[in-house]
Amino acid sequence: MNQVVTQAAIPDFTKRRECNSVGEADNNQIITVCGWVYRYRDQGGVLFIDLRDRSGVVQVVFDLAFDAELLKKADILRSEDVICVTGKVRLRDKNAINPKLKTGTVEILANNLYLLSKAKPSPIPLDELDAEASEELRLEYRFLDLRRKKMQEALRARHEFLRSVRGYLDKEGFWEVETPILNKSTPEGARDFLVPSRLNAGEFYALPQSPQIFKQLLMVAGAERYYQIARCFRDEDLRRDRQPEFTQIDIEMSFVDKKMVMHVSQEMIREAFKNAFGITLEDPQEMAYHDAMELYGNDKPDTRFGMTLTELGEWASSTEFKVFRSAAETGRLKALCVPGGAALSRKEIDDLTEWVKQDYKAKGLAWVKLSENGLDSLITKFLPDAAQKELIKLTGAKVGDIIFFAGDRADIVFATLSALRLRLGERFKMIPDIYKPLWVVDFPLFDWDYDTNSIISVHHPFTAPVPEDATLVLSSAQEEALDKEAQKALLKVRSNAYDFVLNGVEIGGGSIRIHDASMQQAIFRLLRISDEEAKNRFGFLLKGLEFGAPPHGGLAFGVDRALMLALKRASIRDVIAFPKTQKGTCLMSGAPSTVDIKQLRELSLKPTIQHA
Ligand code: AMO
Ligand code: AMP
Repeated sequence: MNQVVTQAAIPDFTKRRECNSVGEADNNQIITVCGWVYRYRDQGGVLFIDLRDRSGVVQVVFDLAFDAELLKKADILRSEDVICVTGKVRLRDKNAINPKLKTGTVEILANNLYLLSKAKPSPIPLDELDAEASEELRLEYRFLDLRRKKMQEALRARHEFLRSVRGYLDKEGFWEVETPILNKSTPEGARDFLVPSRLNAGEFYALPQSPQIFKQLLMVAGAERYYQIARCFRDEDLRRDRQPEFTQIDIEMSFVDKKMVMHVSQEMIREAFKNAFGITLEDPQEMAYHDAMELYGNDKPDTRFGMTLTELGEWASSTEFKVFRSAAETGRLKALCVPGGAALSRKEIDDLTEWVKQDYKAKGLAWVKLSENGLDSLITKFLPDAAQKELIKLTGAKVGDIIFFAGDRADIVFATLSALRLRLGERFKMIPDIYKPLWVVDFPLFDWDYDTNSIISVHHPFTAPVPEDATLVLSSAQEEALDKEAQKALLKVRSNAYDFVLNGVEIGGGSIRIHDASMQQAIFRLLRISDEEAKNRFGFLLKGLEFGAPPHGGLAFGVDRALMLALKRASIRDVIAFPKTQKGTCLMSGAPSTVDIKQLRELSLKPTIQHA
């Protein structure tokens, strides 16, 4: 029994209409629709099928009274079979109208059915009314998962978003240029994915962490305005907003200042949010890095709610608590006052304490609750009356609030309180459901890496310092070694960089670049990249800078992160067609996988792990 349509019996697809396009205007017309059997209801003598294509759903009816033979043929149809139906559109009875469906006032009375493809029962539910399957199963059967309405929405939104971006950049005179995937390493702070070269035994390409150096060289090449929807690869620990390969809208411009790049890119994002999601983003606020850290403990603050941190460095000396006094002297002491937070139970406070110790290296989490009777806490005994009063004044605490303290190395204090702020903001439902864009500016050029005890770049090493600080950078690079004071001064140098933050997620970042070879060499020196290593790794950029490089700058937006926020999805995996798991695997294809010994030999590689 050949139930699947043969080549000879292929319907006329040119006549096909999208399911969602069928409406009352088609009444009495004969039309053809194709798609997947979504739901079916057998009502004895009448079979109703909701037929689904990517546009939506339309109801098809097989009626015994109209065509008994056809109904028999349709009886074998099951969910996800692929069919083509020809039939006459008719208006539904008043009581059969489905107001939830765009096509809910009509149905198609079938007079011809082609079964194009039979489907096994789906291992995951595809109906949005059913509970979602586990993510593992969804990723294994991604081709089915993507049929779900939510995922189709994500695919379509992604397309609309990128279409708007392309349209905007085209209008602004940008050229789309592709840069190589098989590359020399570009440093963006992550590990490279390497690809062995067969033709050059023992040598490797690196997959691009970003097109950074190439886009700068395109400016040297006179392209002036470049963009690329660029795939980037970073071998780093994965989180809900990080994938090993992800997509950037990568931009670079010549003869611009910081304001010009920020303006073009923010308007691009605003237009794309409007066009693709109907979301109006207000003009982003601007905040200096210093303020972001001091007020929110974070360089990507979620400014949708207040509850900012309080500085207690000076206050510490009015207490008799050694922990606070020594933290304020050698590091920082700051507090977070949580309105209504006195409602937290002892158990909740203990859990929070354990959490910040585990995840943020905090040594503890002192707290005081403010009740009608004054301060209630284990540490009240260390706080003289005057100190208590001053604390209430500084934090603005009211009866019913709790104040948490973190005293430690600056980075630990910031990380602890910023995480606590977000967690308690959620716990006490303080975060409104709005979009709040923000530019963070005036970043330091360098940071101190406590692990290696050395200076590192905050962004990538091609970021320019603000012009006022350029001389200091050049002269510091001349020194053999920098003493503590000189290092401190260097850590104060500001960069000409800017990050675009939306609801506490960094969705874009960029900078004005160094377009002068001697400044670039000075930065490498300060980062302790030797002249030889610089020449070896970035020689082609340095060379480019010596042949007439225009002043230039740019930025890159993370497409996946922007979509995750706009579509309110919990993870960027939900806006990527074929994402990797937290462990970097593809559950559908099975990548990564072992390869033949023969392949390794061709690449002049020797296996060091024995596979069964
Ligand atoms: P940066 O490293 O800040 O800058 O990256 C730009 C944006 O890309 C997104 N992003 C990621 N998204 C998903 N998974 C990841 N693993 C991931 N890493 C980064 C973020 C981020 O804001 N070359 C510079 C840009 C420039 O200076 O022009 C760069 O790559 O949203
Ligand atoms: P202790 O004197 O160690 O028993 O600590 C008293 C309180 O201070 C406890 O609530 C600790 O969690 C808290 N605490 C200890 N060290 C710190 C610190 N570095 N920052 C903030 N609170 C701390």
